[in-house]
Amino acid sequence: MRIAVFRDAQQADRVGAEILIREIREKDDPKLGLATGSSPVGIYKELVELVRNNPCSFKHATAYNLDEYVGLSEEHPQSYAAFMQEHLFRHIDLLPSHIHIPNGAAESAEAECIRYETLLREAGALDIQLLGIGLNGHIGFNEPGEHLSSETHIVTLTEDTRRANAKWFLSDDQIPRQAITMGIGPIMKAKRVLFIAHGEAKSSIIHEAFTGPVTTSCPASLLQLHPDLIVLLDEEAAAGLTGGSRPSFRVMENKRIDFLYDPQVQELLGTNG
Ligand code: F6R
Repeated sequence: MRIAVFRDAQQADRVGAEILIREIREKDDPKLGLATGSSPVGIYKELVELVRNNPCSFKHATAYNLDEYVGLSEEHPQSYAAFMQEHLFRHIDLLPSHIHIPNGAAESAEAECIRYETLLREAGALDIQLLGIGLNGHIGFNEPGEHLSSETHIVTLTEDTRRANAKWFLSDDQIPRQAITMGIGPIMKAKRVLFIAHGEAKSSIIHEAFTGPVTTSCPASLLQLHPDLIVLLDEEAAAGLTGGSRPSFRVMENKRIDFLYDPQVQELLGTNG
């Protein structure tokens, strides 16, 4: 696991955008696993900026989103489909037929899960999966529990998650109670996982996810097992790991965490020669 810590969130976002754009420039048919919520907004903003300054076509790429609220159609302003249009898709030339998001308004959510899972299986391993983390350790909407599902499924959102998402809705009763989420399978099968978190509020769950035991009660902890995990954090989100200093590595709970700073991040991006 490589953890890059940045002085501020925007630097983390810029590096995240550069890592994504490399997939687009270097692969023939890049398959992108995309996320919503506050965490990736900055990455999308930086990505749009990079493309504006140095045009790059997305026509050969395909996108698969992690999740969608049950009951919200793509026209609903709080749907994740609308979020993706606003923050990314309307700014780039990704083909509409290459955009895949679970349909929250499907007549049968169960049938929609099967459709989405079939699509993911046909796609095979995603080239890169972008992830944020919930305050309870969820990734996608794979909520903590005794079991995690590897396939696309309907999830009843925990009260914590509903409260965390309240900021997007006008009133409590509008916050959806269920979502369709990609399971853990395609996330762990992705060739690379790009994880982003900002802010002090995430520091304790980051510490738990990356130094604690691998357990279904913190779904993000499974990422410790991923062979190509890049974690981008600002200093606040990393505070529980770095202890406020700039260590090159630390051993916590018998786990060695390697930290990357500016020169090594450039190396990771392949931009220093
Ligand atoms: C969104 C998603 C969620 C969010 C998580 C963090 O597609 O799958 O796991 O990444 O809830 O949300 P924010 O970024 O709003 O703190």
